Amino acid sequence: MAEGREVLVHLTPQLCPPERLAGGLAVVIDVLRATTTIVHALAAGCTAIRPCAEIDEARALADALRPGRVLLGGERDGKPITGFDLGNSPQDYTDSRCRGAVLVLTTTNGTRAMLHAAAADRVLVAAFVNLAAVCEHLRGEARPIHVVCAGNGGRVALEDLVLAGAIADFSARLGPTRLNDGARLAQAAWGRYGGDVETALLESDGGVGLRHLGYEQDIRAAARVDRFALAPELRRDPVRVEADCDEDPLW
Ligand code: MLT
Repeated sequence: MAEGREVLVHLTPQLCPPERLAGGLAVVIDVLRATTTIVHALAAGCTAIRPCAEIDEARALADALRPGRVLLGGERDGKPITGFDLGNSPQDYTDSRCRGAVLVLTTTNGTRAMLHAAAADRVLVAAFVNLAAVCEHLRGEARPIHVVCAGNGGRVALEDLVLAGAIADFSARLGPTRLNDGARLAQAAWGRYGGDVETALLESDGGVGLRHLGYEQDIRAAARVDRFALAPELRRDPVRVEADCDEDPLW
């Protein structure tokens, strides 16, 4: 086996027990749409994202945080949740809505994947819109890198696999790297689209589902590679995601 740092892609959270992540750095991905939405919300001025697995838990947390500035967002079956302020469309997280607010977010797969990955030493949140910013954090990293794809209800999601491939590819170019088979598959998927992210997202099952629901604009927003120079990081006590970098859009 070749020497070097390990880069492991887990095609779904179910394929990676939390204890496997201990001692490593996890990069959580849910391109359509949770991690894309998180990057947009932080770039638009949310001070933190509080990921919740369940709708009731999110409602209770939002109530407990009020009267502070709180937004309650998320989706089930791709659709906004009754009584919530916002759904899961990245571009709805605008400056005027987000500035100074804590976002309590619950989504079908993405927020659960984040909570699952909290077992790692360090957890970053990636989407295509902040790919380069996240990759910069991997440069000096000696710990195993676990790319955790949220997938869709235990099924592989092409859009997550392609982004995982871009990250595996970047890491492999930094020096001797040991990839698992998930990372090799992801690299192949990334190579298959030759950087045409929008086509990959439009073709994916998740993309087709979102188009049926009328959310084609969300797919186009998710395909804007490196729009933001921001690498959100999960912090603890309480579990939350915060921005640690420049919030300005690159373009
Ligand atoms: C998820 O967490 O499963 C996604 O973000 C789903 C969606 O946005 O429709």
